[in-house]
Amino acid sequence: MKITVVGAGNVGATCAESMVRMELAEVIVLLDIKEGFAEGKAMDMNQTATLNGFSSVVHGVTNDYAATAGSKVVVITSGIPRKPGMTREELIGTNAGIVKSVVDNALKYSPEAIIVVISNPMDTMTYLAAKQSGLPKNRIIGMGGILDSARFKYFLSGALDLPVSDLQATVIGGHGDTTMIPLTRIASYQSTPVSNYLSAAKLAEVKSATMVGGATLTGLLGTSAWYAPGAAGAVLTASIVRDQKKIFPCSVYLEGEYGESDICMGVPVVVGANGWESIVDYRLNEEEAAEFAKSAAAVRAMNVVLDSL
Ligand code: LAC
Repeated sequence: MKITVVGAGNVGATCAESMVRMELAEVIVLLDIKEGFAEGKAMDMNQTATLNGFSSVVHGVTNDYAATAGSKVVVITSGIPRKPGMTREELIGTNAGIVKSVVDNALKYSPEAIIVVISNPMDTMTYLAAKQSGLPKNRIIGMGGILDSARFKYFLSGALDLPVSDLQATVIGGHGDTTMIPLTRIASYQSTPVSNYLSAAKLAEVKSATMVGGATLTGLLGTSAWYAPGAAGAVLTASIVRDQKKIFPCSVYLEGEYGESDICMGVPVVVGANGWESIVDYRLNEEEAAEFAKSAAAVRAMNVVLDSL
């Protein structure tokens, strides 16, 4: 089996490295437009095979889509990352053109592929990929909510002083600083609501920290984060290639679910060999449903920008 990661920048390279360590496919193709860049990253990763104990290989190529032929999954990370002070939405003009051409090229050689979108603004790029490709909706999946949920658990773990592995928490809605919705009501520690242990004020703090989690890292790093985004892309891909049927919050094309249509945004989906296979209804309360509608309005405003490009 073959998996392709397009873009050998920080996120793409980290994603490919997570995949090769997990041995998700015999070959992980890493493609970049910068001459020799993906080849170099791939060689470096392959030289860790005996150190990290894996037998899959990373095959780095410069813009050679023929090398990606027959991929089961194509993960798109290409585009420019945000700089401190920038929103994800400001990247739309540049990244839309890039994502469009990547989708076209990738599908030419892997017409059966499931497309995972990581490029920002992620919901808009997922919507663009869905429209551009004309693929069945279940084969286009935006990654953002898995990353945001991992960050939510991280901040909850800090506030609770409890192991992150014992926490369950989900972020739905858009993958933007003001559009994501960390669902504090259903976040749990060992099957008990985290509100049993944290005050409403503390939970609100955790929610805010989660929402600006990416921006905080961009401020510290001078560019956007890569370890957690890359790992999240790999974990999502694992559920596809191993048909794990895990429930992840992902950006998918909605047709009435959660009250929205003709939009891609984060909802809990079952992910397996066919891509996202069904949407899970979390039965939002009134307040959460209102937040979701507000988030959808903001995501939709970005989709409108696509038409003007
Ligand atoms: C982040 C970027 C990758 O949230 O969207 O770190």
